Amino acid sequence: MDERLNGLVIPRHISVILDGNGRWAKKRGLPRKSGHIEGCKALEQILEDAARMGVGYFSVYAFSTENWKRSEDEVTALMNLFRYYGKKLLKVATANNIRVLMIGDKSRFAKDIIESIERLIDSTKDNTGMTFIMAANYGSRDEIVRGTKKLLEDYKAGKFEIDELSEDMISSYLDTAGIPDPDLLIRTSGEQRLSNFLLWQLAYSEFYFPEVLWPDFNKDELIKAIQQYNKRDRRFGGVK
Ligand code: IPE
Ligand code: IPE
Ligand code: MG
Repeated sequence: MDERLNGLVIPRHISVILDGNGRWAKKRGLPRKSGHIEGCKALEQILEDAARMGVGYFSVYAFSTENWKRSEDEVTALMNLFRYYGKKLLKVATANNIRVLMIGDKSRFAKDIIESIERLIDSTKDNTGMTFIMAANYGSRDEIVRGTKKLLEDYKAGKFEIDELSEDMISSYLDTAGIPDPDLLIRTSGEQRLSNFLLWQLAYSEFYFPEVLWPDFNKDELIKAIQQYNKRDRRFGGVK
């Protein structure tokens, strides 16, 4: 274990809006696609680092419901990454005992991409180390609409009374059912907004916005984020 982490609390769930791939490429005169490829490499390494540090859950925003609005060229490049990157991720997950889950509406992806994602989830389901949650075609508002539809179906089927509806029940209808809320949210590249990510789940998370672009994010940056997190005074509405 890195000695910089001695005595620090490791957040149970770290969530990352990985942003800045396009700017990373632009700075180098490269196509945006190269930034995404480099971003995937950074992700592999950070998954391994986080797993070794004892992080329980690591979630990343990989593709939003709004990202379909990008150029056809860029969307195709991103789909190809989903298509071919699964195998690499499976290697990383297997080597590090990582269980992979996905949140988001995968029905909009091509059949072979859905199969690749399902293979990844199924092959790692018995891994007992860190859980890696990939948000793909994810949007928090879309998740709430899909979850509400399921909830109303169950209500119609007489599974519960209106008075029984609780916060825990609503959580159980979201894609993140069973996953603890993030303790720390990191958004790279200096942007300070949520862009429709985990609106319900981030209610009491600590936010950290480093300037570093995602492809340059590494173990040192993750340690800095954890150090910052340890300086925060989490309250959840109460006082100590
Ligand atoms: C994040 O990087 C990756 C995805 C949203 C898929 P961006 O592609 O948003 O990079 P910038 O914000 O244009 O630099
Ligand atoms: C949010 O980043 C989505 C992902 C990181 C996958 P964007 O770069 O798409 O968000 P905006 O458009 O800058 O808010
Ligand atoms: Mg961006």
